Amino acid sequence: MTVLADGVVVTGSAGFIGRALVRTLLDAGTRVVGIDRLPQPAHPCLTVLTADLLDDDERVRAALRSAAAVFHLAGCSGVRDRGPDVALRRRRDNPLATAALLRAVPLRTPVVVTSSSSVYGGAHGVPADPQPCVETDPVRPRGGYARSKVEVERICAARLRDGGTVAVARPFTAAGEGQRPDMALARWIADAREGRPLRILGSPDRVRDVTDVRDVVRALIALAEREVRGTINVGTGVGHTLAEMVDAVAGVLGVDVRTLVVPASPEEVPATLADTARLRRAVGFVPVTDLCDVVARQTAAALSANEPALEVA
Ligand SMILES: NC(=O)c1ccc[n+]([C@@H]2O[C@H](COP(=O)([O-])OP(=O)(O)OC[C@H]3O[C@@H](n4cnc5c(N)ncnc54)[C@H](O)[C@@H]3O)[C@@H](O)[C@H]2O)c1
Repeated sequence: MTVLADGVVVTGSAGFIGRALVRTLLDAGTRVVGIDRLPQPAHPCLTVLTADLLDDDERVRAALRSAAAVFHLAGCSGVRDRGPDVALRRRRDNPLATAALLRAVPLRTPVVVTSSSSVYGGAHGVPADPQPCVETDPVRPRGGYARSKVEVERICAARLRDGGTVAVARPFTAAGEGQRPDMALARWIADAREGRPLRILGSPDRVRDVTDVRDVVRALIALAEREVRGTINVGTGVGHTLAEMVDAVAGVLGVDVRTLVVPASPEEVPATLADTARLRRAVGFVPVTDLCDVVARQTAAALSANEPALEVA
């Protein structure tokens, strides 16, 4: 099967990774049905379905029935969401929406579902020497977001047992154009532009496996094309300290920045790091992140979109 020649469904297509995935698929000449409850820009090869996955919507059911492959990215994202009803929204948009989606997709259709590296509860070892998380490690979710993704994975595991083709991708901190405004690099770029101090949660020595969103998208497409089954880390295997990430922002913007270290909540794990052996076997490559390049692209996109800088909470 060649996903890029067929019609595919992308859920969460108005989101950060979803938009990048749709753009890549459209650039490759693929017809896409994008399902999101938020609006999306029009394109001749994109059928936009503005709908909630939990609505009883025949257009959504028909699209899912006939898709050559389904990329399920819709979800309540973000570990530090403190918004109202967050527990309800996480349950609704993560396990419940995934279960509803899978019921509507024929068992033979390849499905790629985004879980999260947060199910690991952080890398092993100390932040100065973190040890990569392997897909076979027991999950240790910290916080409601991670727990909701563990639920999503359980639903996918049941589908696999039933003979379905499901790849459960565990992305590690995607970065690049259009990053969600609640994520660290996006916040720091906005703060640095406005001359505000960059708030660092916990410690500048915390470590993140940062993955270029273009590579996340490339990996998701390869997982669908190769009809991969099972759980796969989507990360680089290389950690960056928060201090390095702050330096990249300051360097790209050419400004001096002030930082403010504030206490981190328990779900903010000291380090994340992917073991990439299974990813290499599954898709034939391991992403390499050029932090300065990613930050430069993300900054340029934010400037050109004239995205408003955020207020510091
Ligand atoms: N961005 C990252 O670094 C990262 C890391 C790990 C996992 N993930 C996961 O990858 C996926 C995509 O992440 P993102 O950063 O693009 O998130 P995002 O919040 O930018 O996009 C999610 C999209 O899903 C839509 N959505 C949510 N529930 C829906 C529903 N019930 N019906 C229709 N649309 C719905 C939202 O409107 C939003 O546009 C999410 O599941 C997220 O948890 C992301």
